[in-house]
Order: sequence, then structure tokens, then C-alpha cells
Amino acid sequence: MPPTYREDMVKAAEGILLGEDDMIAAMANAAAVVYHGMPRLNWAGWYVLRGHELVLGPFQGLPACVRIPLGKGVCGTAAAERRTVVVDDVEAFPGHIACDAASRSEVVIPVYAQSGQLIGVFDIDSPDLARFTSDDVSALEQVAAAVGRCIR
Ligand code: SME
Repeated sequence: MPPTYREDMVKAAEGILLGEDDMIAAMANAAAVVYHGMPRLNWAGWYVLRGHELVLGPFQGLPACVRIPLGKGVCGTAAAERRTVVVDDVEAFPGHIACDAASRSEVVIPVYAQSGQLIGVFDIDSPDLARFTSDDVSALEQVAAAVGRCIR
């Protein structure tokens, strides 16, 4: 069987990140690999934890909101609760922060450094409702983990 786009994407991310220890470079390349490797996305990028807020990091897609308080929106919820949040319909998520009006479904994954410290979140948006299957989510979690391994 030919590899799925998920397998290709994870392999490409792990390859490009291997041995890299610069957080910005790792996040930038991982955002590009995911945005171009997973069909039907309109945004893929990182928010970095700075004190009690998340600050926009490297991304692909339209310009986005810069600061998100911990606990707010999908990103702030994933960071505060340290869990992956999958939203099939952003309009049904109370407190969703609309950066790109085209977004209909969204996944946000916490990212941890090698030390286990929370570094921020990886946010992936789609213009389609319920775009992300559990296989998609685990592939995206593997990319987030590969970026986390780049950070001490
Ligand atoms: N929708 C996110 C905000 C970030 S943008 O989607 C890029 C949220 O509710 O946290």
C-alpha cells in the first residue's frame, strides 16, 4: 500500500527536524510541512507560552491574533488543560477566537520541551466541518512531539 499523506507528513517533519535545536526554525518548518502536506487546511502554526499568555509563533496562513490568554479560546484551553482539543465545529465551541473567518474545524495540541515543560501549542485549522479524524490528530501529535524534541 502507498503511504498515506499522514505518514508522508510525519516522515517529512521528523526528517527536516532531525538534529535541529532552534525552536523558531523547527516550528517554521513544521508549520510548512503540515500546511502543505495535509489537505484542506487554511491555517497551521504555533503559539508560544510567555507567562500567562500564548504569543503567536511561526505559522502558515492568514495573519492571526497575536496574544491569547491561558484558558481562552481553543488554544488557551488546550494549554491550560494540557490536552489535545479537537473541535469539529468552531461555532459550537464557547469562546472560540475567530482569527480566520474561513475556519470551521480546529485541532490544538500542547507542545512540551525535552524537559517536560509546556512550550506552547500547535494549532491547525480547516475550512471544512469535522475535518480531523483520529488518525489525523495522532499524526499532528507526532509532528508536535518532534518539534518538542528540538527544544531543551
Ligand atoms: N481559533 C483559535 C485562535 C487562533 S487562530 O485559529 C489561528 C482559538 O480559539 O484559540
